[in-house]
Amino acid sequence: MSSLILAIETSCDETSASILSQNTVLSNIISSQFFHNYYGGIVPELASRAHIQSIDKIVASAFETAKVDKNEISLVAATQGPGLIGSLLVGYNYAKGFALSKGVPFIGINHIESHLFSCFIGKKDIEFPFIALVVSGGHTILFLVEDYTKYRILGETQDDAAGEAFDKVAKMLGLEYPGGPVIDKLAKDGDENFHKFPVSKSKDNIYDFSFSGIKTSVMYFLKNNYKNQSSLPVNDISASFQKAVVSSLVEKTMLAAENHNVKHVAVSGGVSANSKLRDEFKKYESKGYNVHFPEKIYSTDNAAMIGYTAYLKYTYSPKELFENSILEPAFPRFQH
Ligand code: KG4
Ligand code: ZN
Repeated sequence: MSSLILAIETSCDETSASILSQNTVLSNIISSQFFHNYYGGIVPELASRAHIQSIDKIVASAFETAKVDKNEISLVAATQGPGLIGSLLVGYNYAKGFALSKGVPFIGINHIESHLFSCFIGKKDIEFPFIALVVSGGHTILFLVEDYTKYRILGETQDDAAGEAFDKVAKMLGLEYPGGPVIDKLAKDGDENFHKFPVSKSKDNIYDFSFSGIKTSVMYFLKNNYKNQSSLPVNDISASFQKAVVSSLVEKTMLAAENHNVKHVAVSGGVSANSKLRDEFKKYESKGYNVHFPEKIYSTDNAAMIGYTAYLKYTYSPKELFENSILEPAFPRFQH
C-alpha cells in the first residue's frame, strides 16, 4: 500500500486538501466560502469560481503543514460526487492532473461514503456491522453497514435534509448562513420546551425522515405570534426546533440499531457537530451501545475524510469494484 496520500474535497462551499500517511492525517486544510452568507445560500457558479481561485494555495498549504514533498505522494484521491458539478470538477480534475503528472494512481471517492467513515479517523479499528446516520446539509440517510463495501439504505429523508431545515429556520429567524452552528449556540440559552414543533412521520417506512413540515410549522408559528423580528424569542425557538429535529434523528437511528441487533452506531456529516445531538446519542452508551462521532473538524466537509476513505478502498476493496481501470473504483451501489 502506498504510504502518502493527497486528498482533495470541493463538492460544495469548502475547498479542502489533506495529506495522510496511510490512515493517519498529517494535514487537513479547509477554506470555507463565507461570502455565500450574503445571498442566504450557496450560489453554485460563485462556489466553483472561488474553488478555482483558492485550490492551488490550499494544496500548497496542506503540503507545507504536513512537511511533505510533492514527489513523495503515491496515491491521489478526490471527491467524485454527489455535489455541485462545477465545484466537483475543480477538485476532481486538479487531483487527476496531479496524479497524471506524478504517474501515481488516482481514486474518485463518494462524498457520503466518506462522511460515513469519518467517524473512525484516528481511531483503532472499525467493527462491523454498524448503523450509520449521515446527516448533512444535503443528505439524511440511515444505513446498515455490513463491511467496507456493503451498505443497505434503511431510510432517508423524503424531502428536506436535516441540515437544510436548520439553515432555512435560521434564515426565518434572521440568523446567518449556515444556520446549524448558530442555532446550536443560541439553543444553549433557550428553553427547549417553549413550544412543541411537530415532526412528520412516514407511513410507509419507519426509518424514513421528513423535515419540511417542521420548517413550515416554524414559519406559521412566527407569522401568527410575532409582528416584528426584534421581539422574537430566538433562543427559545432555536432550542425547541433543535429538540424536535434531534429527537427524530436519534429515535429512528436507535430503533434501527435495536431492530437489527447492532451495537455500533456511527453519526456523521455536518449536523453531527450539533451538541444536543451528541448529548442525546451519548445517553445510549449506558445501554450498551457504542456511539461513534467524527472529531468536530471531520464533521463538516473536509479532505481528510476523502483521503481516509481512499486508504480504506485501496486496502480493503475487492478488485472487482475497480471497473475499467485499476485506478478508479466503481461508485458504491447503495442498496435498499
Ligand atoms: O456535511 P456538510 O459540511 O456539507 C454537506 O455535505 O451538506 O454539512 C453542512 C450542514 C449545514 O446545513 C449546516 O447548517 C449543518 O451541516 N451544521 C450543523 C452544525 N454544524 C453544521 N447543524 C446543526 N448543528 C451544528 N452544530
Ligand atoms: Zn458533506
